[in-house]
Amino acid sequence: MSVTGADKAQAAARLLKDVQAAFAKIDDRRLRELVTKAIHSVHVFVAETGLSRNEWDSSLRFLTAVGQACNEKRQEFILLSDLIGLSTAVDSGEYNSEEGDTPSSVEGPFYIEGSPLIEMGGSIIVDEMAGAEVAMVRGQVFDRSGKGIVGAEVDIWQTAPNRLYAATDEAQSEFNLRGRQKTDKEGRYAFQTVKPVPYSVPRDGPCGTLIKASRGHGMRAAHIHVRVSAPGYKTLTTQICPAGDPYIESDVAFSVVAPLVVEFRPSQQAGDDFRLIADFDFVLQAST
Ligand code: BEZ
Ligand code: FE
Repeated sequence: MSVTGADKAQAAARLLKDVQAAFAKIDDRRLRELVTKAIHSVHVFVAETGLSRNEWDSSLRFLTAVGQACNEKRQEFILLSDLIGLSTAVDSGEYNSEEGDTPSSVEGPFYIEGSPLIEMGGSIIVDEMAGAEVAMVRGQVFDRSGKGIVGAEVDIWQTAPNRLYAATDEAQSEFNLRGRQKTDKEGRYAFQTVKPVPYSVPRDGPCGTLIKASRGHGMRAAHIHVRVSAPGYKTLTTQICPAGDPYIESDVAFSVVAPLVVEFRPSQQAGDDFRLIADFDFVLQAST
């Protein structure tokens, strides 16, 4: 007797039910929901695509390679999540911006805790770097009512003009282009850095293979990563993106939105030791 499409569908539905039942005793309600819904989604994926054994084997080889590419300084799984827009989707769900809030944006794989504290107006430039355009980036951290938040921590990290982060570039000092600052009594921050440049995400691992297969450019629009935190407020991870960058519309991580784009304009003040100024304010949501 031959197996019909209806038989197959019935068997698939029974299998899904049995598998979900196997995880139905997880005590934590939310974890149970996540596990059983994830199981549902992957089973639907298999049914809809007709995924073959060979295809699943190569998928497992790909995911294994992603895991093997991870180490203390490299997080290939975060990169994968960024490339398929998952990080941006999760962030948008988590950080429910209202009009006027600063939108959140991807953290990327290069954040390292413990950057040095820098004084107001101080510099995060540690190394001499050819092609660096020095800029003062400054602004205020506000709450939703427009009040400046005193003592908020502004934690920043970015690439050097050679398009690499200190985190992965042996040639750079550990703290080059990384720093933290506390806002003053009006919620102000100000630091000197270099105008960021666009860069390619790492392409020498499995994610690079995916980018090549999709014939994408793999470029991130230029940006300075910023994490702003203060007691009583939701931590905001976002980025400041210089206007005019050629990759704003096609950023590989799908993470540039209009409110994060800012003009780096020439400084008018004679005697400034920076050439450019960028003004950018952050608005934090109270934590619930
Ligand atoms: C980053 O901005 O550091 C980044 C984001 C997504 C993928 C790779 C890098
Ligand atoms: Fe980045």
